[in-house]
Amino acid sequence: MQSDTALELTAVSKTYGTVKALDQVSLAIQSSQFVGLLGQNGAGKTTLFQLLTGLFNGDSGQIWVCGHDIRHHPIAALSSIGVVFQQPTLDLDLTVQGNLKFHCLLHGLSRSEAEQRISSELERFEMQAVRYLPVRSLSGGNQRKVELIRSLLHRPRLLLMDEATVGLDPESRKALVNHVIALCKERDLAVLWSTHIVEEIQQADRVVVLDRGKVLADSSPGELLAKEPLCGSSLSDAFLHLINLNKTVGVVHERAC
Ligand SMILES: Nc1ncnc2c1ncn2[C@@H]1O[C@H](COP(=O)(O)OP(=O)(O)OP(=O)(O)O)[C@@H](O)[C@H]1O
Ligand SMILES: [Mg+2]
Repeated sequence: MQSDTALELTAVSKTYGTVKALDQVSLAIQSSQFVGLLGQNGAGKTTLFQLLTGLFNGDSGQIWVCGHDIRHHPIAALSSIGVVFQQPTLDLDLTVQGNLKFHCLLHGLSRSEAEQRISSELERFEMQAVRYLPVRSLSGGNQRKVELIRSLLHRPRLLLMDEATVGLDPESRKALVNHVIALCKERDLAVLWSTHIVEEIQQADRVVVLDRGKVLADSSPGELLAKEPLCGSSLSDAFLHLINLNKTVGVVHERAC
C-alpha cells in the first residue's frame, strides 16, 4: 500500500439474505483525492459506509484505513475517519457548541484544544454567529454544515460523506460540495462522497459507479466519457447507460442459470 493511501478495499462483499448489497468491491483513495461514489437507491452506498465505519464486518474482503485493518485495529482506523452519515445525527436540543464540544472530548481533545478547534472551524465555514444557538433553530443547510464541521474537528485523513446533501436546495448543495473540494486540497484530505446526483461529482478526481453492489466503473469523469460507447455523452447519460447495461447483464445471467 502506498504511504498516502487513505483507504483501500479489496474484494469486499456483504449479503443480506439473498440480496448482494456489496459484491467484490475493490477501490483505493489517496490523500487529496475527491472520489465520487455514484449509485442509485439500493446500490449499496450506505452498506459500504457502514463497513468503512466499523459498524459491522463484511462477509469477505479487507478494508484498510490509513494502513490500519479495520477488522483488527478498529480504534486506530476510526480515529483517522471523519463521517457525515445519510441520516442527520446532531442532537437538536443541544447548541452547536454543545454538539461540537462533545465530539472533541470523545476524541480525547482537552477543553482548551476543543474551544480553539471549534472556533477555527466555525470561522472557516463563516458559522460563528450560530455557535450558541440550539441546532433545532438552524436551517437544514446550516445543520449539514455543522455535521461537516464536527466530522473535521479531530483532523481526520479520510472524510466519508453519505448523501450529505439530502434535503438541501441546489444552491446549498453546490456550496457544500465546493467547501469539501476546497478542504480536500487544502488539508490533503481523502474524500469519499456518495450521491445519486451526478452534478455533485462533476469535479471529482475519480468517479466510482456502484450498481446492485458491483463497481461498474472507476475512473476520472474525463476517462469515463472517453470510453466507447460513452463517447460524447454527458456524465449523467454515461451513468444511466452503465446501469442499464448492468441490468441487461443481470437478465442474461438469470436466464443462463
Ligand atoms: N439492514 C438491512 N437488512 C436487509 N437488507 C438491507 C439492509 N441494509 C441494506 N439492505 C439492502 O441492501 C441493498 C443496498 O442498500 P443500501 O442502503 O446500502 O443502498 P444505498 O445505495 O445506500 O441506497 P440509497 O440511495 O437509497 O440510500 C438494498 O437492496 C437494501 O434493501
Ligand atoms: Mg444510502
